[in-house]
This record gives sequence, C-alpha cells and structure tokens, in this order.
Amino acid sequence: MKLADIKREWWKEAIVYQIYPRSFQDSNGDGIGDLRGIINRLDYIASLGVQVVWLNPIYSSPNDDNGYDISDYRNIMAEFGTMEDFEELLAGFHARGIKVVMDLVVNHTSDEHEWFKQSRSSRDNPYRDYYHWWPAEKGTPPRRWSYFDEEANAWRYDEQTDAYYLHYFARKQPDLNWENPKLRAEIYDMMHYWFKNGIDGFRMDVITFISKHEDWPDFGDENQGSKMIDRYAEGPRLHEYLHEMNREVLQHYDIMTVAEGPGTHTHNVLDLVDEDRQELNMNYHFDHNNIGVGERFIMNDDFQNLVKFKQVMSEWDEALSQKGWNTVYFGNHDFPRMVTRWGNDAPPWREASSKLLTTYLLSMRGTPYYYMGDELGMNNIKFDNIEDYRDLMTINWYHLTKAEGGDLDKFMASHKICARDNARTPVQWDSTAHGGFTTGTPWIKVNPNFTNINAAVQEDDANSPLNFFRRMASLRSDNLTLIYGAYELLLAEDENLYVFSRSLDDEKLLVVLNFSCDEQNLHVGNVKDVLINNYSDLMLSEGYLTLQGWQALILKLA
Ligand code: NOJ
Repeated sequence: MKLADIKREWWKEAIVYQIYPRSFQDSNGDGIGDLRGIINRLDYIASLGVQVVWLNPIYSSPNDDNGYDISDYRNIMAEFGTMEDFEELLAGFHARGIKVVMDLVVNHTSDEHEWFKQSRSSRDNPYRDYYHWWPAEKGTPPRRWSYFDEEANAWRYDEQTDAYYLHYFARKQPDLNWENPKLRAEIYDMMHYWFKNGIDGFRMDVITFISKHEDWPDFGDENQGSKMIDRYAEGPRLHEYLHEMNREVLQHYDIMTVAEGPGTHTHNVLDLVDEDRQELNMNYHFDHNNIGVGERFIMNDDFQNLVKFKQVMSEWDEALSQKGWNTVYFGNHDFPRMVTRWGNDAPPWREASSKLLTTYLLSMRGTPYYYMGDELGMNNIKFDNIEDYRDLMTINWYHLTKAEGGDLDKFMASHKICARDNARTPVQWDSTAHGGFTTGTPWIKVNPNFTNINAAVQEDDANSPLNFFRRMASLRSDNLTLIYGAYELLLAEDENLYVFSRSLDDEKLLVVLNFSCDEQNLHVGNVKDVLINNYSDLMLSEGYLTLQGWQALILKLA
C-alpha cells in the first residue's frame, strides 16, 4: 500500500469518541446527564486526543427510548439544557479542535411529534402521508416484526381513524413515510439547519430501514424475529433516497456521515459507501457483535469465539480495502461494555484486557468509534433484578419471555452480559457519591465499583487504562501506517492470538494481541522497535516472544 495512492480525508484519520449525554455528567442535580455537564468536561475530552465527538440524540423527546423518539428536531431536550448551551458546547469543542457529529434519527419520530399528532387526527389531514397507515377495512396488515413492541408486532391499531400505523421500534416511535417527497424535503431542510449551525456530521440511526416495501409483501415465517432485519434493510428505494440526500444536503458541506447499518454485510456495504455512488462516507455493521448472540440477546457458546471474530473483522477489512472506508468499534450505547463482551472483566485481567481492546480498536484500518468510559476500563453492572433496568427493550423482552413461559433465569443471566443498560450506567469520574456523576439520584444505578474504577484515580497513575488510551490515541494519530496501512491477518486459526500486520510504503508494523489469560509463544523475527506494550515488561529473545495473559504489543519489524 502506497500513501501516494490514498485519498486522505479528515474523517478517515479521526478517532471518534461517543458520548451518551444522559450518562456522561449531570450538572444540575436532577440525576440526568446534560450539556452543561459535557461543557464542564471539555478539557478531559480534549486530553484524550480524539478528533471527533459523536453525541447521541439531544433533541426534544419524551424519552421513551432515551432520545431516539424525537418530538422536535430543532430543539434541545429539556433535561439536557437549551440551544444556548448547545452553541456554547459546540464552540467549546471547536475551540479545542474537535468536530461534533450529531445523531440523525429519521426512520421514525416520537408519537408526540407534531407531524404524528396531525397525521393520526384524521385520514385527510395534510400530514397523513408523513407516516405509514393501513386502513382497518383492508383487514389485518401483513406481518411485520417490531424490536421493542410489547407484543413484537410492528403495526399498532389506532382507534381515532380506524387504521394501523407502522413502528419498527416502540409504539411511541412511528415510522416516517419516505415515499412522501414533502417529508423528505422537511428532513433535508432540518439537516441544513444543523449544518448551518456548525455541526460536522451525522451518525444516521437505522438509516438502512427508511425505504419500505410499499407493496407490503408477506415476508414469510422464515423471516420473522430478528431475521426480518435483512428484509427491512432491502427497501427498494433506500439508495435513491440516500443519493438524493447527498445531492440535496451532504455534498454542500465539509462533513462526515456514518450509517448505523443493520442489515449491512460485506456483500452489500459498498452500495452505501462506495464514493462513486455519492451516498454516505461510512457504515457500521453488527456482524461481530452478533457472534454468539441469539434472539432477545440470549448468548451461546460462540460468544467470545476469537477465530470467528477474526474472520468477520478480516472480511470487513477486505470488503472495503479498495473502495469505501471501514469503521471499527466494540461498544456503544446498544452493546455491553467492551471489556465484559470481548475481554475479561475479572479483577486480575480487567485492566490488561481493556488496554488490549483499546490497542486493537486504534490499530485496525477504519475509523475507530470509541465509547465513553471504555477508556477507564468500565465494565458491565450486571443487574440482578429486572426492576433495575431502564431500557424498554430489556423490559419488554422480559415480559414477552414471561408471557410465553420462557426461561427467565436464562434471560436474566444473558442480559447481565448483553443488555444495553450495561453501557448506560454513568461515567465514573471520582470516588465521591455516585462516582461524581450527579449530586442527586442517578436515573440509572452507578456501578458500585466506581470507588476504585474512576477517572480521578486513573489520572494519577501512569499505567492506568486512561493514560494508556491517551498514549495509544496519540500513537495512532501520528502514524499513517496505523491509519492507512494494508491489513493482513496472520494465524487465522489460532484460538488465542490475534496477530496482524499493517504496511504502508516501507513501514511494516505487527500487532500482536493475546486474547486469553494464558501465556502464548510466538516467533516474530527481527524487531526494530516496540511502539506500545500494555505491560511494563517484554519477554523477547532471539525473535521469540512470550506473551502474558491479555498482553498487547505493536512492533516495528526490521
Ligand atoms: C438504534 C439506536 O442506536 C438505538 O439506541 C435505538 O433504540 C434504535 N436505533 C431506535 O432508534
């Protein structure tokens, strides 16, 4: 791979740090994180060495799904602050050289959005066609599965107009009708509004679902449950809409876009991100996070299958090696804490394995999306009681499982590992009450281990996960081989080691990661330099390495 042949872009070279504002920092004691809380932590964020911040939705919302149910696209959620706070926040990030990406949630709105209130009020309301309605006189609508619905049914009967509306997610999240050009124009106008306010991009929520099969085919029994995801992502007009969005909005600004892409796989991702098609810059997939996870997040034995993980990640790298650009992530607000999911969060290994995962994310080809708190090695809270959960998905799935007479113990055990709320417990800032997140009662419990896992303790420890993250972030940002170098997987079948090379022009780096608690041996040949090591010692003799449990190294080869 030659640097001269590469089209460099700021969003390819950036590390994206994701902030879930509800759980980042509360500033007014109401127990809910807010924009002022982020403003108060701007210097911390800048100290990490990241170049982009992605904010989960901060728009007005009744919070049925924590902001993914928007009631006004042009206002700030009351709990989070005001438009003035947002402007101050944006200016604060920009002053520190950090760009800001917002969430764009346009597959659905809240049922409390004015458009939906109008739409449901009568069949001849001008907003009727902003949503998908199925008149009851046509009979029961064709089966569609809903992620969050209490009965898993994506059609909800509405008495007022004797019709059903479509909602792929919760009942309070009706799906917008992209067939309607007036709706599309409204959305493009809203996007211009935010770009003119100075934001630097959008992460597009379930954007692959916006086009529906308007002839409403029956997807058949074999496509029920989460198998429906691939059908939803095959809407016939998806690429037409995204191309139009690009033409009408995106191409007019120096911004970045990333699709949240359920239903994207290596065979279809280029339809979204091949630059010649003028749709989006990047996409993130679920193929790795789906390994070992079945319906309703019930885990199986493959959960940490390293061979499968390497295969998935390598196939994705390959798919985007000539065109488009990849993304890499472990955790976000929808997945468990990375150290619990992919590392080992037992005390002897938590720090080493979280540093190893940081090394991995920041040494792969593709823009890394790094979730807040992972830089501290925060792990899953693992709730024992359903009453502790706040996420409607877990709660509704629990009740569905109960109604079906399913195995609730198995459900609770799996959700200790897989539930979304594990990533939504507040960031642990210091060892004062509630980890310094709030002076009030937090909206969700703080992990009680905040007394020893917190940012303040780690600031003072040169070897903490936090300071390791800073070192690794600066290594990546200063090293074009780590950003653009060709990726080659070695030892594909090894069940414990993940070893790969990155090469650019004359430089060759070897990334060596021991994904196990046991010592591993490896022949690496002539080592010129050790760029990073998550342990203080290195056992290397005559080209032979002995790796300690969860040891991570980046070596420059001679
Ligand atoms: C994906 C978001 O990341 C998730 O948090 C949300 O619940 C659904 N989309 C629905 O908007």
